[in-house]
Amino acid sequence: MMSSMTPIADVTWPVRTERLSIRPATADDAEATWEYRRVPSVAMWMTTAPATFKEYADLFVLEDRLPKTLIMERDGVIVGDLMLAVEDPWAQAEVKEQAEGVQAELGWCLRPEEEGQGLATEAVVELIRLCFEDLGLRRVVANCFAANEPSWRLMERIGMRCEEHAVQDSLHRNGEWMDGFRYALLADEWRARQNA
Ligand SMILES: CC(C)(COP(=O)(O)OP(=O)(O)OC[C@H]1O[C@@H](n2cnc3c(N)ncnc32)[C@H](O)[C@@H]1OP(=O)(O)O)[C@@H](O)C(=O)NCCC(=O)NCCS
Repeated sequence: MMSSMTPIADVTWPVRTERLSIRPATADDAEATWEYRRVPSVAMWMTTAPATFKEYADLFVLEDRLPKTLIMERDGVIVGDLMLAVEDPWAQAEVKEQAEGVQAELGWCLRPEEEGQGLATEAVVELIRLCFEDLGLRRVVANCFAANEPSWRLMERIGMRCEEHAVQDSLHRNGEWMDGFRYALLADEWRARQNA
């Protein structure tokens, strides 16, 4: 659920970095994102691997997905997408309300041709700034298969902390139970680094 106090709609979009422009996705972005998300080397790591564009487009516009999807553009061309899912961390019943919408799960997906230039790093560094400064969140988290080295290398590069190496906790569609990594970063840690 998006935080009611600091909705993503309050951010002034697009957000710009040195090479990228980042904005919320619309249904019209389904086709351009399908072009690279259908590539086997990309689809193999994603939660869903639709077989057809129709199936993909139906999932892309779901209410619990489209509002969490951001688009990365470079010189007006879509080079990838991001996930920004504000969520409620676990809390004891009496203080549950205080924990609502204070954390975000992040995700990323780059067009394969655009890998190796630091574009995802650039986008995620900005996404984290946005989470802490603009949305006022207190913590960001991200998950990946341990076998997805480019993804966890990215998290290491931007200074997220590996908090969990879960052994064979995640079932891949190839039938294999794989290890999972969970990374996180606190707003306080991020702020301390900005001031260092
Ligand atoms: C995960 C993913 C985004 C990582 O892509 P990536 O290109 O490795 O990441 P970046 O764009 O940040 O580029 C970093 C690479 O470019 C290099 N690079 C070049 N210029 C750079 C710069 N200015 N800044 C940072 N890195 C730079 C880095 O050294 C690094 O290469 P290395 O890993 O060989 O050292 C990409 O592999 C992907 O989309 N995969 C498929 C989808 C997926 O798995 N998503 C995550 C699911 S959990």
